Amino acid sequence: MDARDIRNRAFAEAENAANADALERVRVKYLGRKGELTQALRSLKDLPLEKKKEEGPELQGLKRELEEFVEKRLVTFGKEWKKERHPDLTVPAKKLKRGHLHPLSQVERDIRRIFTGLNFSVAEGPELETEYYNFDALNIPAFHPAREMWDTFWVEKEGSETLLMRTHTSPMQVRYMEKNKPPFQVIVPGRVSRYEATDQTHNIHFLNIEGLMVGKDVTLANFKFVIEEFFHKFFAGKKIEFRYRPSYFPFVEPGVEVDIKLKGKWLEVMGAGMVHPRVFEYAHYNPRDWQGFAFGMGAERLAMIKYNIPDIRLFYSGDLRFIRQF
Ligand code: FA5
Repeated sequence: MDARDIRNRAFAEAENAANADALERVRVKYLGRKGELTQALRSLKDLPLEKKKEEGPELQGLKRELEEFVEKRLVTFGKEWKKERHPDLTVPAKKLKRGHLHPLSQVERDIRRIFTGLNFSVAEGPELETEYYNFDALNIPAFHPAREMWDTFWVEKEGSETLLMRTHTSPMQVRYMEKNKPPFQVIVPGRVSRYEATDQTHNIHFLNIEGLMVGKDVTLANFKFVIEEFFHKFFAGKKIEFRYRPSYFPFVEPGVEVDIKLKGKWLEVMGAGMVHPRVFEYAHYNPRDWQGFAFGMGAERLAMIKYNIPDIRLFYSGDLRFIRQF
């Protein structure tokens, strides 16, 4: 074993070690129990006396020097390690760029929070709905002109069911009643689709919020209370007046349209009414035992009123100049 060869390689490798782990590998390679230098020292005993006298001190010296060198390098790595893990707290802070929820998601959260505060549950339903739940079970048979009001995107038949992109969240009325026993009160937020031309207040998709309350003696008076409470909370203390106009939806009787007056202007905000006895029958409830109210509103329209947004299409434009204002 040539001491000079070991010296050259060991120091070069220790010098080039990029981090503490690499340095440790060099140490083991030369100074470990089976290391090259350790082996060389061990094999001294087999050498003739003259050779032993010559090489012994040289190898011993090399061992000491290499140990010291490795030790020193470890200290420098140790310092760097410390620097990485203990950042300099005196460096001035930079503001972190964080995203935020889309304005429509914020409004949806507000609506959910207010209704759950009024003891409503929240349910969700399928966006791809059957013709039966979207229309028939809501007392809108195939020949009914109301189907034209809610034209939508139809999907090819699957099995025996005709599927469509739901035009409102009202199909969840029957779906929810089939699975739950009254009394209950629930809201159903969800995306709906309509085949219609877009303009400032109409989009082909929008976020519909359905409400349904069923009990033995639920009346329109309960509806008025709940909905006025909701709007007062949603518009956070602003002065609002309410107007209830008779209206027609095949799945309620009587039907109403609710308008609110904000900053001197009347605005239409939702359709509603008392659940039609036929709808109860479709859900296998006896209409003589139960009564309830239902309503449906568009979340974008509410957000537009609340934040003075002039065009519904802005919600879906992905334009950051709009989104960052919230
Ligand atoms: C309905 O969809 C009924 N399902 C509401 C209902 C539920 C009535 C329960 C009675 C009982 P309408 O088509 O009017 O009704 O839509 C409800 C609300 O959605 C409207 O008041 C309006 O605020 C909003 N809306 C309607 N069409 C659009 C559209 N294209 N884009 C954005 N919002 C819309």
